[in-house]
Amino acid sequence: MGFREAYDKLEKYGQLHVLKYYEDLSGYEKEALMEQIENTDFEVLGQCAHKEELNPRGVITPIEVMQLKEIDEKREAYTAIGLEAIKAGKVGAVILAGGMGTRLGSDEPKGVYNIGLTKEVFIFQRLIENLLDVVRQAKVWVPLYVMTSDKNHERTTSFFKEKGYFGYNPDYVTFFMQDMAPASDFDGKVYMEETYKMSTSPNGSGGWYLSMMKWGVADKVKEAGVEWLNVFAVDNVLQRIADPCFVGATIATGSAAGAKVVKKNAPDERVGAMCLEDGRPSIVEYYDMTEELMNAKDAQGEPAYNFGVILNYLFQVRDLEAIEARKLPLHIVEKKIPYLDENGRLVKPESPNGYKFEQLVLDMIHELDSCLPYEVLREYEFAPIKNQTGIDSVESARQLCLKNGIAL
Ligand code: UTP
Repeated sequence: MGFREAYDKLEKYGQLHVLKYYEDLSGYEKEALMEQIENTDFEVLGQCAHKEELNPRGVITPIEVMQLKEIDEKREAYTAIGLEAIKAGKVGAVILAGGMGTRLGSDEPKGVYNIGLTKEVFIFQRLIENLLDVVRQAKVWVPLYVMTSDKNHERTTSFFKEKGYFGYNPDYVTFFMQDMAPASDFDGKVYMEETYKMSTSPNGSGGWYLSMMKWGVADKVKEAGVEWLNVFAVDNVLQRIADPCFVGATIATGSAAGAKVVKKNAPDERVGAMCLEDGRPSIVEYYDMTEELMNAKDAQGEPAYNFGVILNYLFQVRDLEAIEARKLPLHIVEKKIPYLDENGRLVKPESPNGYKFEQLVLDMIHELDSCLPYEVLREYEFAPIKNQTGIDSVESARQLCLKNGIAL
């Protein structure tokens, strides 16, 4: 993109400060900045002004959850159905590992974090070990797709190589990168992180399939005959991946998708709860839970919105293109964003100083006609690592690993 076009684009969105250092840049830096301006969607920045009105909610009603008792009764049959699909190569897995992990406070990708106490146990290693259980059971390799971002791609791919893919077959592992979105101050002015580079942040977990399409990975998925993709967060070290019973239950019930859920600890626990919204499956975020929803009871007298999602979903490949073609809601989240101050010095703020712009995988569920909420026991399957200490931390995940007989 030439200077004039870049100038016009920035002016249109009130972002001319991006050119503050332009005159002092080298030829290469000027080119890099022009390219970034060309590829950046500044439209999102304008949404800050009315962020409260962005995602109005519909009418929330309870959804029926497949609970542990029913799953236990049908476990054998569901597992057989799931295994058949996995053996036929119809099930793939997608690790969402493009996040920044800012709460954990490490500059490294989350997956390379070592949670071991007496030996090395990396987060990626835990996930691969869990997937290998299914590989052994089904006696086939499950295609694994790893989403990274501009900020962690090199480190992630070289880490897998360095560690011999933790025993996984590299022919079945494919990496792809998600897109970035500009990160701004509270007035929607994009920050600069270098004199020739705007601050960016990965654009959320919701664009994963779009990125697979962009990278040509979606074509490979289809060519390989994969019909279901199990998408999950990198940071749950007890994550069961391509779980045959979950796959089987989703197929057997004729559901368009599946979502693993756990019973909530408390009505106000900070997890999104499965529900129906205007009659379609959906997830009501904890900050959208009104008193009325928190106190609502179902026919059995149990809390009506008692099951939280754990970011483990099963989607049908045939639906994904259509879902991504419809625009998912935009979420504007307060974050700590490194930026250049007026003197051109890089500042790493201690508290949130602006916004990042994201689309979320959970919003994809609302685009479908049906979704099976499938209960799992949190002690066995939910040990997310968000923080160093306290709730959802390295500490709590270690305890849960030890409880599950995983040597650390
Ligand atoms: P989180 O919402 O916990 O975000 O992501 P995060 O970036 O890992 O951590 P914080 O909020 O900065 O501390 C949930 C899952 O979605 C992935 C993350 O890697 C994690 O597996 N994710 C999130 C992406 O892949 N891309 C994104 O843009 C955001």
